[in-house]
Amino acid sequence: MTFPANDPTLSFSPAAIRAAAAVIGADGIVAVPTETVYGLAADATEPQAVARIYAAKGRPSFNPLIVHVPDLAAARELAEFDADALALAEAFWPGPLTLVRPLRAGAGIASLVTAGLDTVAIRVPRHRAMQALLAASGRPLAAPSANASGGISPTRAAHVRASLGPAVPILDDGATEAGLESTIVAGRTILRPGPVTGTMLAKVLGSVEQGPEAPAIVTAPGQLASHYAPRKPLRLNVTEAAADEWLIGFGAVEGQDTLSAIGDPVEAAARLFDALHRADASDPPRLAVAPIPVDGIGEAINDRLRRAATR
Ligand code: TXA
Ligand code: MG
Repeated sequence: MTFPANDPTLSFSPAAIRAAAAVIGADGIVAVPTETVYGLAADATEPQAVARIYAAKGRPSFNPLIVHVPDLAAARELAEFDADALALAEAFWPGPLTLVRPLRAGAGIASLVTAGLDTVAIRVPRHRAMQALLAASGRPLAAPSANASGGISPTRAAHVRASLGPAVPILDDGATEAGLESTIVAGRTILRPGPVTGTMLAKVLGSVEQGPEAPAIVTAPGQLASHYAPRKPLRLNVTEAAADEWLIGFGAVEGQDTLSAIGDPVEAAARLFDALHRADASDPPRLAVAPIPVDGIGEAINDRLRRAATR
């Protein structure tokens, strides 16, 4: 079984899960229900696959994404867990709770997933379709809500189709349960309220804090306070670097590094945060980056670069 070319939707079944896992294995994206909302999933270890999520959503900026794993053991391979985090995981996983944890060295998560941060948002979903896809693909799955940027989170396959258009493969397993995105917690701070309430969290932790308003609920581009940004000054739209600049190239503009030698914006998105980290670690005191076309995912790349340049 494969997804049909015309309206690529399959109803939940073992064969449909195998088809969806094949798409994930080929670095593609699949919309899949969780107990909260439909997510748009891709292999979290493959930068190109993750870049396709942003391209499909038309997000004008890169917000870090939630990584879905089958169980706590898999989560602990990717992130550090302290006693509080373990207690929350024991109490609420599988379920609609996301924990922001320090990323483990060598976890292999694409830097586009964390937007270059050294923390990762991680959760173990309860829904049978997402669990089956995690098992069949054997990959950690990055998945934001499966709607176009600025749209409402989808709770049915038809919402996903209407929002993301005719090309996205959808695993249909009916309406989702919660309809509200997962609660996000960092330490003892609630970054985003959700189905696991403050009262429920406080029963486990003793006490919790409501997080600062802006960083948690990232509905508009760039609200997240904790964005990775290089320490060095960055000059944009550069075709010829100065002697003291490290130039990140694109297409015909060659540099010490390139976002995409062939001028592919999806590849450029996939490489962006690694390139910024490399540039920051390089010897030259200043950074420069070649012009990136602003259409499609290029809008998000340019947004990120402008932020990096104006801090
Ligand atoms: O219920 C859900 O959580 C759904 C389903 C599909 O699992 N997913 C979802 O993902 O809502 P998304 O991408 O729409 O929301 C992710 C949120 C964003 O607000 C983002 O800023 C925050 O998680 N986030 C991700 N990584 C973070 C990090 N390292 N530190 C702080 N916040 C982070
Ligand atoms: Mg969303």
